[in-house]
Amino acid sequence: MNISKTTVDNIKDRIDIVDVIGDFVTLKRTGQHYKGNSPFTDEKTPSFIVFPRNQNFKDFSSGKQGDAITFIMEYDGLSYTEALKYLAKKYGVEIEEEEQTPEAIQQQNERESLFIILNFAKEFFKTTLWETEEGKNIGLSYFKERGFTDETIQKFELGHSQEQWNALENEAKSKGYNPDLLEKAGLIIKKEDRQYDRFRGRVIFPVHNTTGKVIAFGARMLTNVKNQPKYLNSPETEVYHKSNVLYGLFQASRAIRHLNNCYLVEGYTDVISLHQSGVENVVSSSGTSLTEQQIKLIHRHTKNITVLFDGDAAGIRASLRGIDMILKEGMNVKVIIFPDGEDPDSYSRKLGSMDFQVFLKENYEDFIHFKTRLLSDGDENDPVKKAETINQIISSISIIPNQVQRALYIKETSSLLKLEEQLLYAELNKILINRKREQQKEAYNTRPTELVKEIEEAQQKEVQDSVEFQEKETIRILINYGFNEIEDKYNLVEHYLEELDQIEFINPLYNQILEIFKTEIQKGNIVDIHFFNNHPDKKIQQEVINLTSERHEISENWERYQIYVPKEKDVLTSSVYSNILRLKFHKIKKLIALNLDELKKEKDSDRITELQQISMELKKAEAAFSNPLGIVVS
Ligand code: CTP
Ligand code: MN
Repeated sequence: MNISKTTVDNIKDRIDIVDVIGDFVTLKRTGQHYKGNSPFTDEKTPSFIVFPRNQNFKDFSSGKQGDAITFIMEYDGLSYTEALKYLAKKYGVEIEEEEQTPEAIQQQNERESLFIILNFAKEFFKTTLWETEEGKNIGLSYFKERGFTDETIQKFELGHSQEQWNALENEAKSKGYNPDLLEKAGLIIKKEDRQYDRFRGRVIFPVHNTTGKVIAFGARMLTNVKNQPKYLNSPETEVYHKSNVLYGLFQASRAIRHLNNCYLVEGYTDVISLHQSGVENVVSSSGTSLTEQQIKLIHRHTKNITVLFDGDAAGIRASLRGIDMILKEGMNVKVIIFPDGEDPDSYSRKLGSMDFQVFLKENYEDFIHFKTRLLSDGDENDPVKKAETINQIISSISIIPNQVQRALYIKETSSLLKLEEQLLYAELNKILINRKREQQKEAYNTRPTELVKEIEEAQQKEVQDSVEFQEKETIRILINYGFNEIEDKYNLVEHYLEELDQIEFINPLYNQILEIFKTEIQKGNIVDIHFFNNHPDKKIQQEVINLTSERHEISENWERYQIYVPKEKDVLTSSVYSNILRLKFHKIKKLIALNLDELKKEKDSDRITELQQISMELKKAEAAFSNPLGIVVS
């Protein structure tokens, strides 16, 4: 299923990026755009910028950029579709699901077929486990030996694969499944001369995605055969990207939200045993080291992670990186270490459900305690080693995005290591400053040019808009008051055309109308609204109608209430005067810019002197014009 293009367009139409981001970041308006502190890094000088004109944001401290949808995806760790759903809800847009492009359908169909064949395989492995002699005698009894109940085995949809080369393939073929799909799903392996089932003679752990569809399998060996890995896993496929998947999340998500905490363990069997002990808020990264995407997956349900470690020291040290990644995501980390030689699976069985749950409640420590204990082991009398420990702990604290939280951890470290808070802050600031410097170095190349370009474009647009507005004013006055006199002497049209000699309008439509005035006045005609009423160019006709009907109503309405609004006619001379001044002022500014450009390129010294003189004259003229307009020239 896909959100329809119309729905996407509807959402995009209603999105205001300032409003969307404003829910998460405090934004301040500065000229054409908005600024705030980056929500992706920890910074004090704002370098997160939102451009309402093109509905984009750019975060100069993290390098992230994009539209409102990208922002929600990045900020909440959501998929494109999920971000759209969030925005649809925010703006009250009804979601309509729809057919897709042929390529998208093709891809969608391929994904769908993969889900179907993976589901078929899962069912086949389950049937093998529960209904075949081999499955019952070997697979099922293995699970039973490990203490898994029928209910648990069903809940995790565990299965068994027969000790045969083509059991799954043959079954799939007999049911009419396309063998190519089996390979695409990672279920069979094709060699030049033969092909065979990937999983043979193993118990099967299906891996589910967050909506409960099977996307991959892990398969454990039953007998210790040398030169064979204990677990075989599905390869990466169209529907399985292992860095983006957590084993058990589908079964755990509700409990994680409910208990506002997620236990993180190492393996399939740890997840399953914890469930059986009544602890359901547990997931596993299944043998790979923890990734940022996996942490974000958890973050969607809770801010709190408790990492459960087996008792061996090597694994614990390697895990420190994972802890820093969790801190960086702005989440809270706690740690539980199991007694030597035990893992969550074995220990939960050893203690039994109740005692195990008590153990979890009573034996966690926050990462500061944990890291301090781990690193400072035996360094009481070694100042160099102690300094190193302090540095490593403060380094972890420095990763935490939230300042208040950092302060709390500094306090704790201070009492734990019996060190002055001030000293720890000095260390913290050193690290933060260094990191900032690194980031600035990185951002240095992109930052000035891109930002300056954006700002310049915005300024140019602003100037262009105001010039066009003055052009429009000129045309409006010409059409409405062409027969009037200025200073009781000159005809308004003649006066204008004389003053605006040499000036060409930017807006082509207004320029066209101006040209009409010029040619007609040479024939002695002053054109007015009636002249344009039958003009063959519909665009011109329409524009003239707009320009002659706009202000009329306003003053009449006011007069009904006997409020006197000076009629434009009464102040016509000054309107004309200011309008012409403004047009000339812009013209001069443009000339100044052109002059500067030329100066930059010119090599001939005589011409340079000449250009410099022109430049001075132009500057004088600019000042002369700006005074009566009340403009400050910098
Ligand atoms: N793993 C793997 N391939 C291996 C070994 C381990 O993919 N050759 C992954 C599996 O996801 C496994 C996890 O790493 O669950 C942890 O490994 P381990 O602790 O050895 O396995 P357990 O889950 O504890 O399995 P068991 O208790 O059955 O030994
Ligand atoms: Mn184990």
